[in-house]
Amino acid sequence: MIVKDSGSLPVRIEQDVVLARQLARKLAGECGMRLVDLTKLVTAVSELARNTVVYGGGGDMDWEVLDDIGRLGLRLVFRDEGPGIPDLKLALTDGWTSGSGMGLGLTGARRLVHEFELDTVPGEGTRVTITRWA
Ligand SMILES: Nc1ncnc2c1ncn2[C@@H]1O[C@H](COP(=O)(O)OP(=O)(O)OP(=O)(O)O)[C@@H](O)[C@H]1O
Ligand SMILES: [Mg+2]
Repeated sequence: MIVKDSGSLPVRIEQDVVLARQLARKLAGECGMRLVDLTKLVTAVSELARNTVVYGGGGDMDWEVLDDIGRLGLRLVFRDEGPGIPDLKLALTDGWTSGSGMGLGLTGARRLVHEFELDTVPGEGTRVTITRWA
């Protein structure tokens, strides 16, 4: 597997969520993703970027266009240096929120991609990595 292209986008304020969606849509299109797959990825991006802003206190979205023997994919890393998630199992439970959300962002995003990884250290931050193949 090779990385064809990569970059990073700041995700600090609510408006950056829109930019993250737009960038993900563009890159997914370049990977040759069909509209239905592209829409799934962009929905996951919305949820994760919003969490980065709301709970993580802002962070970045790193992106990589991957090529696995001709099959293209997009890997995105949402990382922040916020408070972290003390109880990961709880956070990955449908309907659980520490705030006033619906508690469906993480679980929803997980279902919309092919690979989902969540690393978090309380007091240090959170990193969510997702991959969707075309
Ligand atoms: N980047 C993050 N940093 C710290 N805590 C987080 C982060 N992302 C998620 N969480 C925690 O995990 C919980 C679940 O997140 P999830 O996105 O599933 O739901 P929500 O944001 O509360 O509601 P919804 O996304 O449905 O509006 C959040 O309420 C928050 O406590
Ligand atoms: Mg959320």
